[in-house]
Amino acid sequence: MVKVLFVCTGNICRSPLAEGILRNKLDKINFPAEVDSCGFESFHVGDAPDMRALSVAKLRGIDISSHQARLFTIGDFEEFDYIYAMDTSHYNNIMRLAKHERDRSKVDYVLNAIFPGQNRGVQDPWYHDIKAFEKVFLQLDEACDQIMHMLVMKPGKG
Ligand code: 4NP
Repeated sequence: MVKVLFVCTGNICRSPLAEGILRNKLDKINFPAEVDSCGFESFHVGDAPDMRALSVAKLRGIDISSHQARLFTIGDFEEFDYIYAMDTSHYNNIMRLAKHERDRSKVDYVLNAIFPGQNRGVQDPWYHDIKAFEKVFLQLDEACDQIMHMLVMKPGKG
């Protein structure tokens, strides 16, 4: 079974949204996959996603309320086939912890799924209003469509 991990800062806004969006798409086509998310800052470990993330997801019928924030660990390189960073800080943090080329080959920017090679970041919506969360949702929805297509075409990487 293919395993996908999304990584952001607090694991309460961007990456839980990406996790819920991709899982929802894969469930709809009965594609067997494990999708998870985590972060790099410990402020919110154990917390449910931010209310604004919960509400933009719920509007589209996606329930992310059961997610509990956790930190990225070295073991995630073994556990996951694809590791998607939301922005350069997460990308660099993940790459710093990678021990092997095999680890590094699993890591990419999530928006490279729609803007290949551009290394664009998903803006942190935490300090902004619900509109920022809407924008993040739409960007991640588009990226997850492409990730879903890639997984369907090439499920065995890792
Ligand atoms: P996220 O957003 O990385 O998309 O979950 C953030 C959530 C909380 C904080 C920063 C970013 N924080 O500093 O508490």
